[in-house]
Amino acid sequence: MNNYNIAVIPGDGIGIEVVDSALKVLDKVSNNNNFKLNYSFYDWGSNYYFKNKLMMPEDGLDLLSKSDAIFLGAIGHPDIQDHLTLNGLLLPIRRKFDQYVCIRPSVLFPGVSSPLKNVKEGDIDIVVVRENTEGEYANVGGFQYHETNDEIALQTAVFTRKGTERIIRYSFELAKQRSKKLTSITKSNAQGYSMVLWDRVFEEVSKDYPEIETSSLLIDAACMDFIRKPKDFDVVVASNLFGDILTDIGAMITGGLGLASSGNISFDDKNPSMFEPTHGSAPDIAGKNLANPIAQILTGAMMLSHLGEDNAANEVRESVIETLKNGNNLTSDIGGNSKTDECTNEILNNLWTLTKN
Ligand code: NAD
Ligand code: IPM
Ligand code: MN
Repeated sequence: MNNYNIAVIPGDGIGIEVVDSALKVLDKVSNNNNFKLNYSFYDWGSNYYFKNKLMMPEDGLDLLSKSDAIFLGAIGHPDIQDHLTLNGLLLPIRRKFDQYVCIRPSVLFPGVSSPLKNVKEGDIDIVVVRENTEGEYANVGGFQYHETNDEIALQTAVFTRKGTERIIRYSFELAKQRSKKLTSITKSNAQGYSMVLWDRVFEEVSKDYPEIETSSLLIDAACMDFIRKPKDFDVVVASNLFGDILTDIGAMITGGLGLASSGNISFDDKNPSMFEPTHGSAPDIAGKNLANPIAQILTGAMMLSHLGEDNAANEVRESVIETLKNGNNLTSDIGGNSKTDECTNEILNNLWTLTKN
Protein backbone atom coordinates (compact mmCIF):
# COMPACT_ATOMS: atom_id res chain seq x y z
CA MET A 1 0.00 0.00 0.00
CA ASN A 2 1.34 3.46 -0.87
CA ASN A 3 1.84 5.76 2.10
CA TYR A 4 2.25 9.53 1.92
CA ASN A 5 3.30 11.97 4.63
CA ILE A 6 1.20 15.09 4.42
CA ALA A 7 1.95 18.21 6.47
CA VAL A 8 -1.39 19.86 7.23
CA ILE A 9 -1.54 23.56 8.14
CA PRO A 10 -5.22 24.56 8.51
CA GLY A 11 -4.09 28.13 9.33
CA ASP A 12 -6.61 30.87 10.00
CA GLY A 13 -10.30 31.70 9.58
CA ILE A 14 -12.19 29.49 7.15
CA GLY A 15 -8.94 27.61 6.45
CA ILE A 16 -9.67 25.56 9.57
CA GLU A 17 -13.21 24.69 8.46
CA VAL A 18 -12.48 23.87 4.82
CA VAL A 19 -9.38 21.80 5.60
CA ASP A 20 -11.49 19.72 7.99
CA SER A 21 -13.98 19.13 5.14
CA ALA A 22 -11.30 18.29 2.60
CA LEU A 23 -9.58 15.80 4.91
CA LYS A 24 -12.87 13.89 5.28
CA VAL A 25 -13.02 13.57 1.50
CA LEU A 26 -9.34 12.65 1.22
CA ASP A 27 -9.70 10.00 3.93
CA LYS A 28 -12.62 8.41 2.18
CA VAL A 29 -11.07 8.40 -1.26
CA SER A 30 -7.71 7.09 -0.02
CA ASN A 31 -9.49 4.29 1.75
CA ASN A 32 -11.39 3.40 -1.44
CA ASN A 33 -8.19 3.47 -3.48
CA ASN A 34 -5.99 1.56 -1.09
CA PHE A 35 -3.40 4.15 -0.16
CA LYS A 36 -2.78 6.01 3.07
CA LEU A 37 -2.27 9.67 3.86
CA ASN A 38 -0.40 10.12 7.15
CA TYR A 39 -1.08 13.60 8.44
CA SER A 40 1.19 15.72 10.61
CA PHE A 41 -0.88 18.62 11.89
CA TYR A 42 0.75 22.00 12.51
CA ASP A 43 -1.27 24.61 14.39
CA TRP A 44 0.76 27.46 12.91
CA GLY A 45 -0.78 30.75 11.90
CA SER A 46 -2.22 33.76 13.68
CA ASN A 47 -3.19 32.06 16.96
CA TYR A 48 0.33 30.68 17.15
CA TYR A 49 1.57 34.24 16.54
CA PHE A 50 -0.53 35.68 19.38
CA LYS A 51 1.23 33.25 21.75
CA ASN A 52 4.74 33.15 20.30
CA LYS A 53 5.20 36.31 18.19
CA LEU A 54 6.13 33.98 15.33
CA MET A 55 3.92 32.41 12.68
CA MET A 56 5.73 29.09 12.91
CA PRO A 57 8.58 27.74 15.04
CA GLU A 58 12.20 28.45 14.06
CA ASP A 59 12.57 24.93 12.67
CA GLY A 60 9.19 25.04 10.90
CA LEU A 61 10.57 24.77 7.38
CA ASP A 62 12.78 21.82 8.41
CA LEU A 63 9.74 20.03 9.78
CA LEU A 64 7.85 20.60 6.53
CA SER A 65 10.78 19.43 4.42
CA LYS A 66 10.18 15.86 5.61
CA SER A 67 6.72 15.67 4.05
CA ASP A 68 5.65 14.45 0.61
CA ALA A 69 3.29 17.41 0.26
CA ILE A 70 1.92 20.31 2.28
CA PHE A 71 -1.84 20.90 2.52
CA LEU A 72 -2.66 24.42 3.66
CA GLY A 73 -5.95 26.24 4.32
CA ALA A 74 -5.39 29.99 4.48
CA ILE A 75 -3.41 32.53 6.43
CA GLY A 76 -4.45 36.02 7.53
CA HIS A 77 -6.08 37.62 10.57
CA PRO A 78 -7.72 41.06 10.83
CA ASP A 79 -5.75 41.89 14.01
CA ILE A 80 -2.27 41.28 12.54
CA GLN A 81 -0.77 43.14 9.61
CA ASP A 82 -0.93 40.90 6.55
CA HIS A 83 2.71 41.39 5.66
CA LEU A 84 3.70 39.83 9.00
CA THR A 85 1.47 36.78 8.69
CA LEU A 86 2.13 36.09 5.02
CA ASN A 87 5.84 36.85 5.13
CA GLY A 88 6.04 34.75 8.29
CA LEU A 89 4.56 31.57 6.88
CA LEU A 90 3.09 31.28 3.41
CA LEU A 91 5.62 33.13 1.26
CA PRO A 92 8.73 31.62 2.94
CA ILE A 93 7.34 28.12 2.22
CA ARG A 94 6.86 28.92 -1.47
CA ARG A 95 10.40 30.31 -1.68
CA LYS A 96 12.27 27.84 0.52
CA PHE A 97 10.96 24.83 -1.39
CA ASP A 98 11.38 26.56 -4.75
CA GLN A 99 7.71 26.07 -5.60
CA TYR A 100 8.13 28.18 -8.68
CA VAL A 101 5.03 27.07 -10.56
CA CYS A 102 1.66 28.12 -9.21
CA ILE A 103 -1.10 26.37 -11.14
CA ARG A 104 -4.55 27.94 -11.02
CA PRO A 105 -7.32 26.46 -13.15
CA SER A 106 -10.53 28.40 -13.87
CA VAL A 107 -13.17 26.04 -15.20
CA LEU A 108 -16.86 26.78 -15.54
CA PHE A 109 -18.34 23.58 -14.13
CA PRO A 110 -21.81 22.26 -14.95
CA GLY A 111 -24.47 23.72 -12.69
CA VAL A 112 -22.43 26.81 -11.89
CA SER A 113 -23.58 30.16 -13.20
CA SER A 114 -21.05 32.72 -14.26
CA PRO A 115 -21.78 36.41 -13.65
CA LEU A 116 -20.95 36.86 -17.34
CA LYS A 117 -23.66 36.81 -19.98
CA ASN A 118 -23.52 34.27 -22.79
CA VAL A 119 -21.18 31.76 -21.19
CA LYS A 120 -22.28 28.27 -20.38
CA GLU A 121 -20.81 25.12 -18.89
CA GLY A 122 -17.52 24.22 -20.48
CA ASP A 123 -17.05 27.59 -22.18
CA ILE A 124 -14.34 28.69 -19.77
CA ASP A 125 -11.37 26.39 -19.25
CA ILE A 126 -8.28 28.45 -18.44
CA VAL A 127 -5.10 27.55 -16.59
CA VAL A 128 -3.07 30.42 -15.27
CA VAL A 129 0.55 29.53 -14.65
CA ARG A 130 1.79 32.03 -12.12
CA GLU A 131 5.49 32.57 -11.39
CA ASN A 132 5.66 31.96 -7.68
CA THR A 133 9.07 32.67 -6.17
CA GLU A 134 10.37 35.98 -7.49
CA GLY A 135 9.18 38.96 -9.55
CA GLU A 136 7.17 41.51 -7.61
CA TYR A 137 7.14 39.17 -4.55
CA ALA A 138 10.92 39.05 -4.13
CA ASN A 139 11.39 40.08 -0.55
CA VAL A 140 13.78 42.89 -1.41
CA GLY A 141 13.36 46.44 -0.19
CA GLY A 142 13.39 48.59 2.87
CA PHE A 143 12.44 51.82 4.55
CA GLN A 144 14.52 54.96 4.89
CA TYR A 145 13.66 57.72 7.38
CA HIS A 146 11.16 55.28 8.85
CA GLU A 147 7.92 56.82 10.09
CA THR A 148 8.98 60.39 9.39
CA ASN A 149 7.60 62.85 6.84
CA ASP A 150 10.58 62.07 4.63
CA GLU A 151 9.88 58.35 4.64
CA ILE A 152 10.91 56.33 1.61
CA ALA A 153 9.80 52.78 0.88
CA LEU A 154 11.58 50.67 -1.70
CA GLN A 155 10.02 47.45 -2.98
CA THR A 156 12.19 45.89 -5.62
CA ALA A 157 10.91 43.41 -8.17
CA VAL A 158 13.47 40.79 -9.13
CA PHE A 159 13.22 39.09 -12.51
CA THR A 160 16.00 36.63 -13.25
CA ARG A 161 16.54 35.12 -16.68
CA LYS A 162 16.56 31.66 -15.07
CA GLY A 163 13.33 32.28 -13.16
CA THR A 164 11.60 33.80 -16.16
CA GLU A 165 12.71 31.12 -18.56
CA ARG A 166 11.69 28.16 -16.41
CA ILE A 167 8.15 29.40 -15.82
CA ILE A 168 7.68 30.22 -19.49
CA ARG A 169 9.10 26.87 -20.58
CA TYR A 170 6.77 25.07 -18.15
CA SER A 171 3.81 26.93 -19.71
CA PHE A 172 4.80 25.92 -23.24
CA GLU A 173 5.00 22.30 -22.10
CA LEU A 174 1.55 22.57 -20.55
CA ALA A 175 0.14 24.22 -23.68
CA LYS A 176 1.52 21.29 -25.68
CA GLN A 177 -0.64 18.93 -23.63
CA ARG A 178 -3.73 21.15 -23.93
CA SER A 179 -5.06 23.21 -26.84
CA LYS A 180 -1.64 24.47 -27.97
CA LYS A 181 -2.47 28.06 -27.20
CA LEU A 182 -0.45 30.22 -24.82
CA THR A 183 -0.87 33.84 -23.75
CA SER A 184 1.95 35.73 -22.03
CA ILE A 185 0.95 38.56 -19.71
CA THR A 186 3.18 41.61 -19.86
CA LYS A 187 3.42 45.29 -19.01
CA SER A 188 6.49 46.19 -21.01
CA ASN A 189 4.90 49.44 -22.10
CA ALA A 190 5.55 50.79 -18.60
CA GLN A 191 7.97 48.37 -16.97
CA GLY A 192 10.88 48.86 -19.30
CA TYR A 193 13.30 46.41 -17.69
CA SER A 194 11.62 43.46 -15.99
CA MET A 195 8.82 43.04 -18.50
CA VAL A 196 11.11 43.66 -21.45
CA LEU A 197 13.23 40.75 -20.24
CA TRP A 198 10.03 38.71 -19.78
CA ASP A 199 8.90 39.46 -23.38
CA ARG A 200 12.33 38.69 -24.79
CA VAL A 201 12.54 35.34 -23.00
CA PHE A 202 9.00 34.48 -24.11
CA GLU A 203 9.98 35.20 -27.70
CA GLU A 204 13.17 33.13 -27.42
CA VAL A 205 11.52 30.10 -25.81
CA SER A 206 8.65 30.21 -28.34
CA LYS A 207 11.17 29.28 -31.07
CA ASP A 208 11.46 25.84 -29.46
CA TYR A 209 7.69 25.35 -29.73
CA PRO A 210 6.64 26.26 -33.27
CA GLU A 211 3.43 24.23 -32.88
CA ILE A 212 2.13 26.51 -30.10
CA GLU A 213 0.03 29.53 -31.03
CA THR A 214 1.29 32.41 -28.89
CA SER A 215 0.13 35.87 -28.02
CA SER A 216 1.28 38.57 -25.67
CA LEU A 217 -1.20 40.73 -23.81
CA LEU A 218 -0.80 43.68 -21.48
CA ILE A 219 -2.07 42.92 -17.96
CA ASP A 220 -4.72 45.65 -18.07
CA ALA A 221 -6.04 44.38 -21.39
CA ALA A 222 -5.93 40.80 -20.06
CA CYS A 223 -8.11 41.80 -17.07
CA MET A 224 -10.58 43.23 -19.56
CA ASP A 225 -10.48 40.23 -21.91
CA PHE A 226 -10.92 37.67 -19.09
CA ILE A 227 -14.33 39.32 -18.74
CA ARG A 228 -15.00 40.29 -22.36
CA LYS A 229 -13.94 37.07 -24.09
CA PRO A 230 -12.85 34.40 -21.60
CA LYS A 231 -13.41 31.62 -24.15
CA ASP A 232 -10.34 32.82 -26.04
CA PHE A 233 -7.90 31.81 -23.28
CA ASP A 234 -6.33 28.46 -22.63
CA VAL A 235 -2.91 28.50 -20.92
CA VAL A 236 -1.84 31.89 -19.58
CA VAL A 237 1.59 32.62 -18.11
CA ALA A 238 2.07 35.57 -15.79
CA SER A 239 4.46 37.05 -13.27
CA ASN A 240 3.78 36.64 -9.56
CA LEU A 241 1.65 39.74 -8.97
CA PHE A 242 -0.10 39.78 -12.33
CA GLY A 243 -0.93 36.08 -11.86
CA ASP A 244 -2.28 36.79 -8.38
CA ILE A 245 -4.66 39.45 -9.64
CA LEU A 246 -5.72 37.66 -12.79
CA THR A 247 -6.61 34.48 -10.90
CA ASP A 248 -9.11 36.29 -8.70
CA ILE A 249 -10.82 37.40 -11.92
CA GLY A 250 -10.54 33.86 -13.27
CA ALA A 251 -12.21 32.63 -10.09
CA MET A 252 -15.05 35.16 -10.26
CA ILE A 253 -16.03 34.43 -13.85
CA THR A 254 -16.26 30.70 -13.02
CA GLY A 255 -18.37 30.90 -9.86
CA GLY A 256 -16.10 32.55 -7.32
CA LEU A 257 -13.28 31.93 -4.90
CA GLY A 258 -15.21 29.13 -3.23
CA LEU A 259 -14.43 26.93 -6.24
CA ALA A 260 -10.88 28.04 -7.08
CA SER A 261 -8.15 25.48 -6.48
CA SER A 262 -4.41 26.09 -6.57
CA GLY A 263 -1.09 24.27 -6.26
CA ASN A 264 2.44 25.53 -5.67
CA ILE A 265 4.71 23.06 -7.37
CA SER A 266 8.36 22.31 -6.79
CA PHE A 267 10.30 20.27 -9.31
CA ASP A 268 13.08 19.38 -6.91
CA ASP A 269 12.49 15.84 -5.60
CA LYS A 270 13.80 16.82 -2.19
CA ASN A 271 11.19 19.55 -1.78
CA PRO A 272 7.49 19.17 -0.99
CA SER A 273 4.93 21.02 -3.09
CA MET A 274 2.14 22.90 -1.34
CA PHE A 275 -1.56 22.79 -2.10
CA GLU A 276 -3.78 25.69 -0.93
CA PRO A 277 -6.87 27.21 -2.50
CA THR A 278 -6.77 30.62 -4.18
CA HIS A 279 -8.97 32.20 -1.51
CA GLY A 280 -7.89 33.58 1.85
CA SER A 281 -9.09 33.21 5.43
CA ALA A 282 -12.35 35.13 4.74
CA PRO A 283 -12.70 36.72 8.20
CA ASP A 284 -16.16 38.00 7.23
CA ILE A 285 -17.60 34.46 7.29
CA ALA A 286 -15.06 32.58 9.44
CA GLY A 287 -16.30 30.28 12.19
CA LYS A 288 -19.90 30.33 10.92
CA ASN A 289 -19.99 27.09 8.94
CA LEU A 290 -20.72 29.18 5.82
CA ALA A 291 -17.55 28.69 3.75
CA ASN A 292 -17.66 26.77 0.52
CA PRO A 293 -15.37 23.76 1.03
CA ILE A 294 -15.12 22.95 -2.70
CA ALA A 295 -12.00 25.02 -3.47
CA GLN A 296 -10.12 23.20 -0.72
CA ILE A 297 -11.51 19.83 -1.82
CA LEU A 298 -10.50 20.39 -5.46
CA THR A 299 -7.09 21.50 -4.17
CA GLY A 300 -6.92 18.14 -2.41
CA ALA A 301 -7.63 16.45 -5.76
CA MET A 302 -4.74 18.41 -7.25
CA MET A 303 -2.51 17.10 -4.47
CA LEU A 304 -3.60 13.53 -5.17
CA SER A 305 -2.73 13.89 -8.87
CA HIS A 306 0.65 15.28 -7.87
CA LEU A 307 1.24 12.24 -5.65
CA GLY A 308 0.41 9.99 -8.60
CA GLU A 309 -3.02 8.93 -7.31
CA ASP A 310 -4.89 9.94 -10.45
CA ASN A 311 -7.81 7.60 -10.01
CA ALA A 312 -8.55 8.97 -6.56
CA ALA A 313 -8.12 12.53 -7.82
CA ASN A 314 -10.65 11.90 -10.59
CA GLU A 315 -13.13 10.41 -8.14
CA VAL A 316 -12.95 13.57 -6.03
CA ARG A 317 -13.40 15.81 -9.08
CA GLU A 318 -16.32 13.70 -10.32
CA SER A 319 -18.08 13.84 -6.98
CA VAL A 320 -17.67 17.62 -6.87
CA ILE A 321 -19.01 17.95 -10.43
CA GLU A 322 -21.95 15.70 -9.56
CA THR A 323 -22.69 17.88 -6.52
CA LEU A 324 -22.58 21.07 -8.57
CA LYS A 325 -24.72 19.54 -11.31
CA ASN A 326 -27.41 18.34 -8.89
CA GLY A 327 -27.38 21.65 -7.05
CA ASN A 328 -28.25 20.11 -3.68
CA ASN A 329 -26.58 21.30 -0.49
CA LEU A 330 -24.54 24.08 -2.07
CA THR A 331 -23.28 27.01 0.00
CA SER A 332 -24.62 30.55 -0.39
CA ASP A 333 -21.68 31.94 -2.39
CA ILE A 334 -22.82 29.81 -5.33
CA GLY A 335 -26.54 30.28 -4.83
CA GLY A 336 -27.38 27.56 -2.30
CA ASN A 337 -28.50 27.86 1.31
CA SER A 338 -26.55 25.06 2.91
CA LYS A 339 -23.72 25.05 5.41
CA THR A 340 -20.12 23.94 4.97
CA ASP A 341 -20.71 20.57 6.65
CA GLU A 342 -23.88 19.88 4.65
CA CYS A 343 -22.05 20.52 1.39
CA THR A 344 -19.19 18.31 2.56
CA ASN A 345 -21.61 15.48 3.37
CA GLU A 346 -23.23 15.82 -0.05
CA ILE A 347 -19.82 15.42 -1.71
CA LEU A 348 -19.01 12.44 0.52
CA ASN A 349 -22.33 10.82 -0.43
CA ASN A 350 -21.72 11.41 -4.12
CA LEU A 351 -18.26 9.92 -3.75
CA TRP A 352 -19.85 6.88 -2.19
CA THR A 353 -22.41 6.54 -5.01
CA LEU A 354 -19.79 6.97 -7.71
CA THR A 355 -17.38 4.41 -6.34
CA LYS A 356 -20.11 1.83 -5.59
CA ASN A 357 -20.98 1.56 -9.31
P1 NAD B 1 -10.59 36.15 0.89
O1 NAD B 1 -10.32 35.23 -0.25
O2 NAD B 1 -10.33 35.63 2.24
O3 NAD B 1 -12.13 36.64 0.81
C1 NAD B 1 -12.64 37.43 -0.26
C2 NAD B 1 -14.17 37.29 -0.30
O4 NAD B 1 -14.50 36.00 -0.82
C3 NAD B 1 -14.82 37.38 1.07
O5 NAD B 1 -16.06 38.03 0.96
C4 NAD B 1 -15.02 35.93 1.46
O6 NAD B 1 -16.10 35.71 2.35
C5 NAD B 1 -15.25 35.26 0.11
N1 NAD B 1 -14.75 33.87 0.12
C6 NAD B 1 -13.46 33.49 0.03
N2 NAD B 1 -13.36 32.15 0.11
C7 NAD B 1 -14.62 31.69 0.24
C8 NAD B 1 -15.17 30.39 0.38
N3 NAD B 1 -14.42 29.28 0.39
N4 NAD B 1 -16.51 30.28 0.51
C9 NAD B 1 -17.30 31.36 0.47
N5 NAD B 1 -16.84 32.62 0.36
C10 NAD B 1 -15.51 32.77 0.24
O7 NAD B 1 -9.76 37.47 0.62
P2 NAD B 1 -9.54 38.78 1.53
O8 NAD B 1 -10.79 39.09 2.27
O9 NAD B 1 -8.96 39.75 0.63
O10 NAD B 1 -8.43 38.33 2.56
C11 NAD B 1 -8.68 37.86 3.88
C12 NAD B 1 -7.36 37.45 4.51
O11 NAD B 1 -6.83 36.31 3.84
C13 NAD B 1 -6.28 38.52 4.41
O12 NAD B 1 -5.56 38.46 5.61
C14 NAD B 1 -5.43 38.08 3.23
O13 NAD B 1 -4.11 38.54 3.29
C15 NAD B 1 -5.50 36.58 3.39
N6 NAD B 1 -5.29 35.79 2.17
C16 NAD B 1 -4.63 34.61 2.35
C17 NAD B 1 -4.46 33.75 1.28
C18 NAD B 1 -3.75 32.46 1.53
O14 NAD B 1 -3.46 32.11 2.67
N7 NAD B 1 -3.43 31.70 0.51
C19 NAD B 1 -5.01 34.08 0.04
C20 NAD B 1 -5.70 35.29 -0.11
C21 NAD B 1 -5.85 36.14 0.97
C1 IPM C 1 -2.82 34.14 -3.03
C2 IPM C 1 -2.78 35.19 -1.96
C3 IPM C 1 -1.35 35.44 -1.51
C4 IPM C 1 -0.56 35.90 -2.72
C5 IPM C 1 -1.22 36.47 -0.39
C6 IPM C 1 -2.05 36.09 0.78
C7 IPM C 1 0.19 36.72 0.00
O1 IPM C 1 -3.41 36.35 -2.37
O2 IPM C 1 -2.31 33.02 -2.80
O3 IPM C 1 -3.38 34.42 -4.10
O4 IPM C 1 -0.61 37.06 -3.08
O5 IPM C 1 0.13 35.06 -3.31
MN1 MN D 1 -4.44 36.16 -4.29
